[in-house]
Amino acid sequence: MVRHFLDIHRLEAAELRAILDDAHARKAARKGWPQGRPDADAPGKERVLAMVFEKNSTRTRFSFDAAIRQLGGASIIATASDMQLGRGEPVEDTARVLSRMVDAVMIRANNHEDVERFARVSTVPVVNGLTDRSHPCQILADLQTIEEHIGPIAGKTIAWVGDGNNVCHSFMHAAPKFGFHLNVACPAEYHPDLRDLEKGGASVSLTSDPREAVRGADVVVTDTWVSMGDQDYEARLAAFEAYGVDEALMALAAPDAVFLHCLPAHRGEEVTDAVIDGPRSLVWDEAENRIHAQKAVLAWCFGG
Ligand code: CP
Ligand code: NVA
Repeated sequence: MVRHFLDIHRLEAAELRAILDDAHARKAARKGWPQGRPDADAPGKERVLAMVFEKNSTRTRFSFDAAIRQLGGASIIATASDMQLGRGEPVEDTARVLSRMVDAVMIRANNHEDVERFARVSTVPVVNGLTDRSHPCQILADLQTIEEHIGPIAGKTIAWVGDGNNVCHSFMHAAPKFGFHLNVACPAEYHPDLRDLEKGGASVSLTSDPREAVRGADVVVTDTWVSMGDQDYEARLAAFEAYGVDEALMALAAPDAVFLHCLPAHRGEEVTDAVIDGPRSLVWDEAENRIHAQKAVLAWCFGG
């Protein structure tokens, strides 16, 4: 069985916990090392990771490249528009060809279904680096960050405030797997996909009131109101006006609550400067942890 990492709900809870534990261990083991030095066990030695981007990226691109190097391997990065994929070559044919040339493929795609199609014929592991539907790698990094600062994720309450988008979906997938509760606050017209909400089951509560979602929460998370590919910019800004995370909203959370944002942030929209630059914000650790969490994902894909 090829180990694809397409969505959090597709893995067993124990497998996910082992990946997160490995992310913590790999980070601790290389404290103070130069970024290019491979980990002692180098589970990606002699492996090549291909990365295909249909959308922009800073964190995902640099963190996967750093990750495969730290695992002892190498990368090939391409923008889909520069590939024959951009001229209509079928996703399946691209997958068959790349499977003969590399040991794993990370894809950031416009349509989630294209990643599923790629994985169905790929003979090497495929990792979802964000689609319109989900962003599973982000959530592992977020959970690692939370555990570093406020302890085990099981039993915690996370409040998601804003758009019921791809990142929100992956948080919903993770809630029952890692045993945390997720309060989602979003305007009715921008609620999460009900199929993803269902995967969260009793671990997820949905409201349109940000104050209700945040009250007593251990973690407050938000994301852009306008994701890559969204067209209705003006309508979104109007709909989300009451969903910005500011100090008054943070004051309703638990006294030691922390703030996360996957970035890029739009200061003055979904979050104020005072919150994202304030003492409870963990956004820079969160960005760094993309490397550590994805190393654990890739090591798992390679059979570790
Ligand atoms: N958070 C995240 O995935 O960032 P990029 O879009 O910069 O990769
Ligand atoms: N929801 C955002 C996340 C960016 C990392 C988007 O899809 O654009």
